[in-house]
Amino acid sequence: MIRLEGLSKAWPGAAAPAVADITLEVPEGTSCALIGPSGSGKTTTLRLVNRLVEPSAGRVLIAGQDALRQDPVQLRRHIGYVIQEGGLFPHRSVAENVATVPRLLGWAEARIQARVAEVLEMMGLPPGQFAARRPHQLSGGERQRVGVARALAGDPPVLLMDEPFGAVDPVRRRQLQDEVLKLLRQLRKTVLVVTHDVAEAMRLGDAVAVLRDGRLVQHAPPEALLAHPANGFVAGFLGSDRALTRLGLFPAKAARGEAAAAGPPLPAEATLRDALAEMLARGTRAVPLAGGGAVTLEAVLDLAAV
Ligand SMILES: Nc1ncnc2c1ncn2[C@@H]1O[C@H](COP(=O)(O)OP(=O)(O)OP(=O)(O)O)[C@@H](O)[C@H]1O
Ligand SMILES: [Mg+2]
Repeated sequence: MIRLEGLSKAWPGAAAPAVADITLEVPEGTSCALIGPSGSGKTTTLRLVNRLVEPSAGRVLIAGQDALRQDPVQLRRHIGYVIQEGGLFPHRSVAENVATVPRLLGWAEARIQARVAEVLEMMGLPPGQFAARRPHQLSGGERQRVGVARALAGDPPVLLMDEPFGAVDPVRRRQLQDEVLKLLRQLRKTVLVVTHDVAEAMRLGDAVAVLRDGRLVQHAPPEALLAHPANGFVAGFLGSDRALTRLGLFPAKAARGEAAAAGPPLPAEATLRDALAEMLARGTRAVPLAGGGAVTLEAVLDLAAV
């Protein structure tokens, strides 16, 4: 569990605080996505959690323990941190990068090697192919995978991720999001993840927190946030296509019916948004589903009603 209580950070000389009185809880084994405009305090909030930044006021509790009373170096060994572009050590191999925290924790060499191979494998980076490479010999997406592998290596209960997939193209990005999400759920990590991308926040967060000028303006599950933005600022930030984004949260099979429909069926993992997109592309009011049945335009509209 991560709990922020009345957390604030005022940088010296700044006219307004970068983080202002944020109270927010991320329950054990769940994830919270932080979104907001550039400069709204997202990165500062993450860095207050692992004490790369010290608060001006307020508290951070991790698993009920006051982070401010712990040794910051010790604390950071138990909090995985993924920064944009991976933040890898350029002159060290992938394996050496991933081994960083286990080494600091004083693990035996054999255990470190086994763990490095295990987390690289988990992240879809076969060690035989990747372990010996340097960061400059990787694509942007591979570097980010290594960044996540490195953050997971010491098996920390808490993970902070700052724009973890910023360098990945949209198609690979969605795939990577799904893989990482599945992994984090399986491992029951408690995660605070920053992103600029509204659709990414909705996929990665069990809850989404919207920041504006350092203040928390709304904190809600994705579906509720998209259906009921608290004010015009949140609605504007989510975008005029937020109803479409919301359709992307529901599986198409939730709208399965018996209507007649022709053409290739939608794949099993398709969303209502995909179903609607197919209807538009095919100029039809119904599309068949893999496994039988079909989704109709009426069924989509019924499920989309808030
Ligand atoms: N080390 C620092 N010293 C002084 N001011 C800082 C420092 N780091 C950040 N700030 C200021 O704090 C505010 C919040 O910055 P922060 O990096 O948290 O924003 P952000 O929401 O992560 O933005 P982005 O989406 O652009 O990454 C900004 O006004 C920034 O200029
Ligand atoms: Mg930032």
